[in-house]
Amino acid sequence: MPDRTIEALLLEDRTFVPPPAFGQTATMRDERVYDEAAKDLEGFWARAAGDLHWFAKWRTVLEWAPPYAKWFVGGRTNIAYNCLDRHVKAGRRTKAAIIWEGEPGDERVLTYGDVLREVSKFANVLKSLGVKRGDRVTIYMPMIPELPIAMLACARIGAPHTVVFGGFSAEALRDRINDAQAKVLITADGGWRRGNIVPLKRNADEALAGTPTIEHVVVVRRVGEAAPIHFQEGRDHWWHRLMADAPAVCEPEPMDSEDLLYILYTSGTTGKPKGIVHTTGGYMVGTYLTTKWIFDLKDDDVFWCTADIGWVTGHSYIVYGPLANGATTVMYEGTPDYPDKDRFWAIVEKYRVNIIYTAPTAIRTFMKWGPQYPARRDLSSLRLLGTVGEPINPEAWIWYHQHIGGGRCPVVDTWWQTETGMILITPLPAITTLKPGSATRPFPGVAAEILNEQGKPVGPNEGGYLVLTKPWPAMLRGIYRDPDRYVQQYWSRYPGVYFTGDGAKRDKDGYFWLLGRVDDVINVAGHRIGTYEVESALVDNPAVAEAAVIGVTHDIKGQAIAAFVTLKEGFTAGAEMVDTLKQHVVKKIGALARPEQILFTGELPKTRSGKIMRRLLRDIAEGRVLGDTTTLADQTVVQALKQRYEEEAG
Ligand code: WTA
Repeated sequence: MPDRTIEALLLEDRTFVPPPAFGQTATMRDERVYDEAAKDLEGFWARAAGDLHWFAKWRTVLEWAPPYAKWFVGGRTNIAYNCLDRHVKAGRRTKAAIIWEGEPGDERVLTYGDVLREVSKFANVLKSLGVKRGDRVTIYMPMIPELPIAMLACARIGAPHTVVFGGFSAEALRDRINDAQAKVLITADGGWRRGNIVPLKRNADEALAGTPTIEHVVVVRRVGEAAPIHFQEGRDHWWHRLMADAPAVCEPEPMDSEDLLYILYTSGTTGKPKGIVHTTGGYMVGTYLTTKWIFDLKDDDVFWCTADIGWVTGHSYIVYGPLANGATTVMYEGTPDYPDKDRFWAIVEKYRVNIIYTAPTAIRTFMKWGPQYPARRDLSSLRLLGTVGEPINPEAWIWYHQHIGGGRCPVVDTWWQTETGMILITPLPAITTLKPGSATRPFPGVAAEILNEQGKPVGPNEGGYLVLTKPWPAMLRGIYRDPDRYVQQYWSRYPGVYFTGDGAKRDKDGYFWLLGRVDDVINVAGHRIGTYEVESALVDNPAVAEAAVIGVTHDIKGQAIAAFVTLKEGFTAGAEMVDTLKQHVVKKIGALARPEQILFTGELPKTRSGKIMRRLLRDIAEGRVLGDTTTLADQTVVQALKQRYEEEAG
């Protein structure tokens, strides 16, 4: 991000030491843990794994043949058992596991006993539909309790789930179902969003026209009469009907540590989203320990991660991490501004939330709305704040600390990715002195480096590429059905080293400062979108000859999508075409990928070999002086484009 230049960050010198209360009570407050983990990585993770239940203990903690890792080799476990049965057996049957708030204001509190019963029943439902160990199940749902219940039911019987964010379009859903070759789809008639209905079943029906592997569809009734839906006899089933007769006991399947737990699709540098593969044992241990230490979970804490479960943050820190710890996790269906802009703070007040974990884009939105909204509510229950998803600017950090945390709560800025499965760079709240805007340092046992083009570590305050030099338990095990892409994407830039795709620098104290993506991935409001995905969606429209998509700085979203488009002969540029194309992208991908700006151009700046020079387009869109243009085939194209852009942008 251009406003996140190294120069600007160097001026950031405020520090915040851990509040004394944390030093006395935190679950992890011994700094020596960093050295211990560095000296004995395997022993460190084995100790964490020892807190959990295994049907059979692992033989070897780690087998590492770069780029392939196996963790807890030979171990047998079940993550749903660890998230539910383990706690019920330990006397927490009546403890709240999930506190759910629907957007219209309805609420449900499910105890550990309740969730275990529902999960077991739904696991039996899946079996009755013919789902067997290893079969993939796609989940396309609103933020309702049936979503984690469905995930845990899959995990219980060893059927990998693949959750598709409810904001994705029918076509995006279809492609993901087909890539995973899923047998069953679980969805809902709709979900609530700002008082409107998200027509999930209608989208699903459209997708299902092109998904030959799907045999059954289970539909949760969420909006009911408000949105009647089409039902296909034999294929579609109401969730509540199937559940009514399902037996309440289902033995958990003892899974191998390296058995597939889930696939989650994310954007990369090509047009096709990647199915990130996570396995059972290591992912369980990694999410368990990071949740426990980073969020300093205590038995009576109420933890709220505001992400959608359709993203990795929701998988790891709404569902698996908190439940593996026996914590109380909050889920909210709707948006922060409905019915009013204090909704989040009303939820914190109502459930006495102790720990909140949200995204910088949300914080910048709250800043814009003003401190009067949080000030209306009693936020005194909060003791720890977290952020994730994109670099947080120091102003937003300070605002969060002051107006949400009342100046007393540490802020944990956590860096990680869909691929990493768990948080990797983060403060530990009782140990780390915080610097606003810095994710601080790697979690114990995590080895991060910053390298230059030549693969040499950079000096203090020099920018470079963030890499990971040692394996960690929750790391991705591959890209589903695309083994070569796994190697090429993450392990080929520097052999044996994981390439994150992020830029970073380290200051003189060893603190990491993330600088944003260095590849063709845009981070819009904390959502990862590939430029090629949006370009493919644009050129799919019959009017478009060529398109180039870039990320431009945006005050609230961090980045927004800008598209430069060349139309085919016979099509007219103008406001109408802009609308048509934006709509087309929404249809192909979903509203999250709608371009903010579309600029028509007769030609795109290209090198003599025909490569579009996105770098120059970024310079134009950011209003910067154009960088090196000597490799361009035609110098006049870019000059004309710059002038047009400036005219249109006013
Ligand atoms: C970015 C989300 C700076 C980064 C968990 C990464 C961050 C991408 C931070 C992964 C942070 C995430 N500071 N940047 N604290 N957290 N990112 O896969 O660019 O949706 O590569 O996973 O988000 O996005 P993803």
